[in-house]
Amino acid sequence: MNILIIGATSAIAKSVGRIYAEQRHSLHLVARNEEMLDELAKDLKVRGATSVSHSVLDLNKFSEHEPMLHSIFEQLGHIDIALICHGSLPKQEQVEIDFKQAQKEINTNGLSVISLLTVLATKFIQQKQGSIAVITSVAGDRGRQPNFVYGAAKSLVSTYLQGLRGKLLAHNVRVIDIRPGLVDSPMTAGFEKGLLWSSPESVAMKITKSIARGSHTVYAPAYWRFIMLVVCAIPESIFKRLKF
Ligand SMILES: NC(=O)c1ccc[n+]([C@@H]2O[C@H](COP(=O)([O-])OP(=O)(O)OC[C@H]3O[C@@H](n4cnc5c(N)ncnc54)[C@H](OP(=O)(O)O)[C@@H]3O)[C@@H](O)[C@H]2O)c1
Repeated sequence: MNILIIGATSAIAKSVGRIYAEQRHSLHLVARNEEMLDELAKDLKVRGATSVSHSVLDLNKFSEHEPMLHSIFEQLGHIDIALICHGSLPKQEQVEIDFKQAQKEINTNGLSVISLLTVLATKFIQQKQGSIAVITSVAGDRGRQPNFVYGAAKSLVSTYLQGLRGKLLAHNVRVIDIRPGLVDSPMTAGFEKGLLWSSPESVAMKITKSIARGSHTVYAPAYWRFIMLVVCAIPESIFKRLKF
């Protein structure tokens, strides 16, 4: 299979890449750090990938999305799986008082993904098959005081994916929304870890299995579905007083 991984140098994406490399697929990686991309491409080739190519792009350069994806489709012919992984977790106390910062984070976590999906959807409709998967977050399920700018951007993408899933159904294209809980990655380096934390490797395993199965909305690990059911069931009159 031809697999496109956008945000390929993220810890979760790297683990996904390793699983697909060991399954001997062809990979195209997109990230902004060329040195890390080169290193990752070499590693995935050694692990068994049939071929590994890459594109370097800061994904907040929206105008470059279409030409980049166009040239990747030209190069590969078709893409079986496109996985969007990039993201950034801002400091809530900074972004809630500085709109420029908030806008940058909403661009990274929300609008850049919608821009990529707009092009990918058109291409996948033309090829009449494939899976588009996006890593969002449980943070998008309900706006919480400590991360509502990040959560709002992720929620934007999840809502978009719900509609896109229906739209692409008739074209034999699957749309998968992956919502991890707490993952021990560079994004959360400063956080104290506890029982609810998962490794990028275990989340990656869940991602590849869910894409193969054609799932819709995937909580990673699965227990986050129940945690978020409880979180979403708390009446707003109580929830607005909670600081977690
Ligand atoms: N870690 C968690 O607890 C957690 C929970 C729920 C959801 N998620 C989501 O999971 C996904 C993967 O995150 P992770 O945990 O694997 O964290 P990570 O290792 O910190 O990965 C984040 C990646 O996003 C890339 N990125 C950020 N802004 C970019 C831009 N403008 N252009 C190109 N690349 C950009 C980073 O590239 P650089 O290395 O070049 O900065 C990095 O590769 C993200 O969407 C994140 O929101 C994470």
